Amino acid sequence: MITHDLNLVRRFADRVAVMEDGHVVESGAVQQVLNQPNHAYTRKLVDSRPQRHLAEVSADAPLVAQVQDVRVSYRTKPSGWRGWFSAGSLLAVESASFELRQGETLGVLGESGSGKSTLALALLGLLPFSGQLKLMGQSWQHQHSADLNLRRMVQVVFQDPFSSLSPRMTVEDVVGEGLRVHQARLPPQQRQIRVMQSLSEVGMTESEFPGLLQRYPHEFSGGQRQRIAVARALILQPRLLVLDEPTSALDVSIQKQLLQLLQRLQAQRGLSYVLITHDMQVIQAMAHQVLVMKQGQVVESGPALSVLEQPRHAYTQSLVQASTPDGPRL
Ligand SMILES: Nc1ncnc2c1ncn2[C@@H]1O[C@H](COP(=O)(O)OP(=O)(O)OP(=O)(O)O)[C@@H](O)[C@H]1O
Ligand SMILES: [Mg+2]
Repeated sequence: MITHDLNLVRRFADRVAVMEDGHVVESGAVQQVLNQPNHAYTRKLVDSRPQRHLAEVSADAPLVAQVQDVRVSYRTKPSGWRGWFSAGSLLAVESASFELRQGETLGVLGESGSGKSTLALALLGLLPFSGQLKLMGQSWQHQHSADLNLRRMVQVVFQDPFSSLSPRMTVEDVVGEGLRVHQARLPPQQRQIRVMQSLSEVGMTESEFPGLLQRYPHEFSGGQRQRIAVARALILQPRLLVLDEPTSALDVSIQKQLLQLLQRLQAQRGLSYVLITHDMQVIQAMAHQVLVMKQGQVVESGPALSVLEQPRHAYTQSLVQASTPDGPRL
């Protein structure tokens, strides 16, 4: 079993081999290796639990998102000739409600297929929905010109940095694309300066990566690509970032760096996040509030730490239990 999830290793594996740069640097019984790591890289992995550094959100901070009873369905068709005559629908999100303030993070947890990404797409104005959904006091009109201003303020980072960035665009084009759409008249030199500023905010500079702007996404590691994706989202100075499993393709030490970056950006810019993840450690480190979804329904919600400490719903309880290092072996 190949994974970067140490918790899975603890609960599934009998023996473990740790690789770095093409070499097995350490191997042995799971308990032995993870509890008394010898190699520096194993120690780094074991110490990579993300830390919670979050500012409290004041009760009168401006509201960034107001979501009330949002429902989203997909049209589905039976396959074959039956599909010619009937159209079905699948209710993917059933009545989600929450409020999000400036500088606040809402963690969204839930099993696969529970509707997390669907809720994210509705927030981004990319899917029709029913119910109330306001961002900065404005609703989606589902009309290009009317929605343009809102689109600038809500940006997204997806899970897989390998497929979410076009392989045919250079880093300069990837990061600057939003400016081409939203500030089409900006002179090219100005655009380039903004692209470089945005990249340096996520810790990527020309001096560290020579030829950075003209390189292609595949020339970077997963963690670097995810930084590029964040730079791309930041360039329009959004108020809300929707992060759909942004760290689940990354190894734990790189994951920690990306989470620290997101914490720093939140502190500096008062950004709000909707952070979708199935990783309880990520919720623990990043979220002010949490929403737990199961089969399209919100089964539990509230302040993140109290939900993690005293989960009420059986599903949340099982998630919490599965994520503790000394939880039961599977
Ligand atoms: N375009 C689509 N057409 C029809 N059904 C869809 C479509 N996209 C998703 N669904 C269905 O909607 C439900 C919710 O899917 P969604 O992608 O929101 O889940 P998720 O919580 O993000 O899961 P994961 O953790 O695996 O990413 C699932 O049952 C899925 O099969
Ligand atoms: Mg998803």
